[in-house]
Formats: sequence, C-alpha cells, structure tokens
Amino acid sequence: MKKTWLIIGLVCASGAVAAVLIVMYILPLDVKERSPVQPILFSHKLHAGSNGIPCLYCHRSAPNSRVAGIPAVADCRACHLYISPDSPEIKKLIGYWDRQEPIAWVRVYSLPDHVYFPHMMHIRAKIECSACHGEVAAMERITRTASLKMGWCLGCHRQHKASIDCWTCHI
Ligand code: HEC
Ligand code: HEC
Ligand code: HEC
Ligand code: HEC
Ligand code: HEC
Repeated sequence: MKKTWLIIGLVCASGAVAAVLIVMYILPLDVKERSPVQPILFSHKLHAGSNGIPCLYCHRSAPNSRVAGIPAVADCRACHLYISPDSPEIKKLIGYWDRQEPIAWVRVYSLPDHVYFPHMMHIRAKIECSACHGEVAAMERITRTASLKMGWCLGCHRQHKASIDCWTCHI
C-alpha cells in the first residue's frame, strides 16, 4: 500500500517538475524576445506619436530595400544637439557619438537566415507598417506583435493572393 503511494507521489512530483520546466522554457524566452530593454530609453510614442515624426524619416530604406534600416547615432544627434541636450538619456546618446560607438539596439523582429523577406515588396503593395508591427506610434518600448511563423506569412499571402510558392520565401 505504502509503495503505491510512493509511486503516485513520484509520478506527480516528476510531472510537476516537467510542467515547471516547460513553463520556464516557454515564458522567459517569449517575454525576452517580445519586448527587450534597449540600451537607450528610445520611445516611439514620443517620436512617432506625440511629435509625429514619420516612420520613413528614420526607417528610410523600407520602400526600396530588403531591410527597413535603423537610424545611425549621427541621425539622432542631428536633432538632439538642440532638443533636450541636458537630459541624462541624451547625454548617454552623445556619449556614443563621442566614442564613435554604434548603439547595440536589441533586435525585436528577426527571421532565420533561410527566409527571404523584402520590405520593399510589401510597402509597394501598400501594406501598412502596422499590419505587421502593430501600433508602434503608441509604444514606449517596441513590443513584437506577430509570431513571425511561416503560417503568419502564408495566411496574409493567401488573403492578398500573393505567392505562396516555396521559393518565394526560401531561396
Ligand atoms: C526618430 C526615429 C524613429 C522613428 C520616427 C521611428 N522609428 Fe522605429 N526605430 C527607431 C530606432 C532607433 C529603433 C531601434 C530601437 C528600438 O527598438 O526601440 C527602432 C525600432 C523599430 C522596430 C523594431 C525593429 C527590430 O526588429 O528591432 C520597428 C518594427 C519600428 N521601429 C517601426 C517603426 C514604425 C512603424 C514607425 C512609425 C510609426 C517608426 N518605427 C518610427 C527609430 C525610429
Ligand atoms: C527629427 C528629430 C529627432 C530625431 C531624429 C530623434 N529625436 Fe529624440 N526626440 C525628439 C523630440 C522632439 C523629443 C521630445 C522632446 C521633448 O518633448 O522634451 C525627443 C526625445 C527623445 C528622448 C527623451 C529625452 C528626455 O526628455 O529624456 C530620447 C532619449 C531620445 N529622444 C532619443 C533619441 C534617439 C536615440 C534618437 C536616434 C535613434 C533620436 N532621439 C532621434 C526629436 C528627435
Ligand atoms: C508584411 C509585414 C511587414 C511590413 C508591412 C513591415 N515590416 Fe518591418 N519587418 C517585418 C519582418 C518580418 C521583419 C524581420 C525581417 C528579417 O529578419 O529579415 C521586419 C523588420 C523590421 C525592422 C528591423 C530590421 C530592419 O529591417 O532594418 C524595422 C526597423 C522595421 N521592420 C520597420 C518597418 C517599417 C517602418 C515599416 C513600414 C514602412 C515596416 N517595417 C513594414 C515585417 C514587416
Ligand atoms: C499583412 C500581409 C502580409 C504578411 C504578414 C506577409 N506578406 Fe509577404 N507579401 C504580401 C503582399 C500583399 C505581397 C505583394 C504581392 C505582389 O505584389 O504581388 C507580398 C510579397 C512578398 C514577397 C515577394 C513576392 C514576389 O512575388 O516577388 C515575398 C518574398 C514575401 N512577401 C515574403 C514574406 C514573408 C517571408 C513573410 C513572413 C515573414 C511575409 N511575406 C508576410 C503580404 C504579406
Ligand atoms: C510567404 C513566405 C513563405 C512561404 C511561401 C513558404 N515559407 Fe517556409 N518558412 C517561412 C518562414 C517565415 C519560416 C520561419 C518560421 C519559423 O522559424 O518558425 C519558414 C520555415 C520553413 C521551414 C523550417 C521550419 C523550421 O522549423 O525551422 C521549412 C522546412 C519550410 N519553411 C518549408 C517550406 C515549404 C516546403 C514551402 C512551400 C510549400 C514553404 N516553406 C513556403 C516562410 C515561408
């Protein structure tokens, strides 16, 4: 009788350990990937939202290149020589310029190397940034809103009658 309880106890305990491990595996990974803390407290809500700076002012490669592009420290400096130069975060920013060191922004959206994703085809097809990236202009810190799984791409391609041939995205 005692032995049966011992076995049941062991099974439950190992089940609980497995469950915790699975949760630990899924949760931190997802939280970490979806909204990582950035080296400078750059707010899209402040720049693209309240100050209405257009997305393409900073991400200017998007309409004619595969990548959208992240602005260089020189681009930030051009405005911040005059705007809020005394704020601690701007002093941090100018520190990067003085050291000629690029800011190591943490990537939020990224695909595996075997997938081809051209921004320009989507911009030309008049797909809004928000269809894939959510309401960025309302975000203090960028939070990933899409799974970036193959099914996500295919779902929208079917809806828009865009190509779903394997070689469209895998070359
Ligand atoms: C003043 C410049 C500026 C403007 C305007 C701006 N961005 Fe950004 N964007 C950045 C910088 C810098 C980063 C990298 C830091 C970060 O992730 O917050 C970034 C990151 C992003 C990312 C995450 C990229 C990744 O994978 O890490 C997306 C998506 C994005 N921006 C979309 C937009 C959209 C959509 C708009 C317009 C609503 C916009 N941005 C307006 C400067 C800007
Ligand atoms: C087109 C001009 C422009 C560009 C380019 C720009 N900013 Fe700004 N930034 C602003 C304005 C306007 C504000 C809001 C100032 C205010 O309301 O006090 C601001 C505010 C900020 C703040 C908050 C400052 C505070 O009060 O603490 C930070 C941090 C910042 N920007 C970082 C950046 C970084 C990093 C970049 C480059 C990726 C950048 N900015 C590019 C115009 C710009
Ligand atoms: C059809 C979906 C889609 C649309 C529309 C889209 N993006 Fe993206 N974006 C992505 C994907 C997917 C990635 C990751 C690409 C990779 O890793 O190769 C990405 C990456 C980025 C990045 C980071 C890497 C880079 O390309 O420099 C920025 C910044 C960005 N997008 C901004 C924008 C802006 C701004 C717009 C609107 C002008 C926009 N995106 C429209 C899906 C989209
Ligand atoms: C929100 C809708 C949407 C999403 C999400 C989306 N796409 Fe697209 N995609 C389109 C549309 C619309 C076109 C343009 C089709 C055209 O012009 O014929 C397109 C075109 C393309 C093209 C060029 C096709 C060609 O015929 O040359 C590639 C490559 C592509 N997408 C890859 C991807 C990948 C990879 C993903 C996922 C990471 C993705 N797309 C997610 C809507 C989307
Ligand atoms: C519209 C773009 C698109 C098309 C079309 C597409 N794929 Fe993919 N595929 C992706 C993306 C994005 C990923 C990466 C997803 C991830 O890592 O979860 C991927 C991943 C894969 C993987 C790797 C899965 C893994 O676990 O890493 C295989 C295999 C694959 N695709 C096969 C195919 C085949 C076969 C076809 C044709 C029937 C096809 N794909 C069509 C976008 C596409």
